[in-house]
Amino acid sequence: MIALASDHVGIVLKEEIKILLDEMGLPYRDYGAYSQDRTDYPLYGARAAKAVASGECERGIICCGTGVGISLAANKVKGIRCVVCSDCYSAMLSRQHNDTNMLSMGARVVGTELARMIARIWLTTDFEGGRHQRRIDQISALEQGEAIE
Ligand code: RB5
Repeated sequence: MIALASDHVGIVLKEEIKILLDEMGLPYRDYGAYSQDRTDYPLYGARAAKAVASGECERGIICCGTGVGISLAANKVKGIRCVVCSDCYSAMLSRQHNDTNMLSMGARVVGTELARMIARIWLTTDFEGGRHQRRIDQISALEQGEAIE
């Protein structure tokens, strides 16, 4: 299950991502916003992030104007590693090396076709583990307030 969320600006891109997920046969849950009425991106970033952190959803894709604000909110939820992405290389490496569990994109930054390509790559690329796992563990330790050196 993929968690989706956006603010009022990102909603158009979120709808495009739904079309992609339908094409890929991947189920999703939309945590809002549900209209273009002006609202606050932290509300929706947090909802989707909590769904991913709790295991209710495996991963999440979120959108706002730049992808920045909603990703900042998502990354405040423990266990979330959300990448803001506007290129395919970072999308792939964020999965292979950083095991990102959420992807954020900006509706005012990326066009529909690029966003679809980024999302497809991000959804189909696996974490490589190995030496990268140690670094993920360090990030998790930081999140718990532990010293890492
Ligand atoms: C809303 O105007 C805009 O600030 C928001 O969509 C996002 O870009 C924030 O990072």
